[in-house]
Amino acid sequence: MKYSVVIPAAGQGKRMKLNKNKQFLLLEDKPVIVHTLNTFQNDNWCEEIIIVANKDEIEQITQLTNIYKISKVSKVVFGGTERQHSVRNGLKALGGDKIVLVHDGARPFVKEEHIHRLVEETEKTEAAILAVPIKDTVKMSEGEYVSHTVDRSSLWSVQTPQAFRLQAILSAHEWAEKNNFLGTDDASLMEKLEKPVSIVTGDYFNIKLTTREDIVFASSILRVRRGELV
Ligand code: CTP
Ligand code: MG
Repeated sequence: MKYSVVIPAAGQGKRMKLNKNKQFLLLEDKPVIVHTLNTFQNDNWCEEIIIVANKDEIEQITQLTNIYKISKVSKVVFGGTERQHSVRNGLKALGGDKIVLVHDGARPFVKEEHIHRLVEETEKTEAAILAVPIKDTVKMSEGEYVSHTVDRSSLWSVQTPQAFRLQAILSAHEWAEKNNFLGTDDASLMEKLEKPVSIVTGDYFNIKLTTREDIVFASSILRVRRGELV
């Protein structure tokens, strides 16, 4: 089975407080974005990679793809103000009606087996997302007080990749643009159009580097991969 992937990397990384885009943060001598790209470069099912980058970082990203021989990158396109706009630009760079994955540049530890399960699921439905059962107890508040405890048995923490039939997600993005809808992930646009979205259970290692402590978790995950930790 084959797929293309759009990798949004055009954020600012404000919550990481590094004064630079977190995509360029080094994890064991390699930028975060390179760890992410390597996973797709090495996956035989992946045919094409589109990277979405900030205008003034396109050259830097292109250089990295050359240095690290990420030969599947066909285009590096501009990002937009919000992640959703960046993803839309990336999707528009693709043609046909293939399966497309959208995966955060800042999520370097996704496993190939999970990518493949998503792609297989998208052969059946038009959309599938990777998620893990929520671990915390979740409460709703009213002002400073708890109003009630939410039943967590059907709650999921959602990750990327999210996989779609290209034309289906493109139509959903068109709809969102026309109706000024801004979702926090791509699948939420499909949900708005009442399209079914399947859930594939992933694992808790597939973190997104968001705040400073995630850098500590990221180094531990790399040690786990080398067999140094559990
Ligand atoms: N992203 C993007 N275009 C944007 C915003 C985000 O391509 N306008 C990308 C980021 O580069 C990242 C992914 O979407 O790979 C997930 O977003 P997030 O973790 O929020 O990254 P940032 O927006 O960079 O971080 P922050 O919100 O802390 O500024
Ligand atoms: Mg952001």
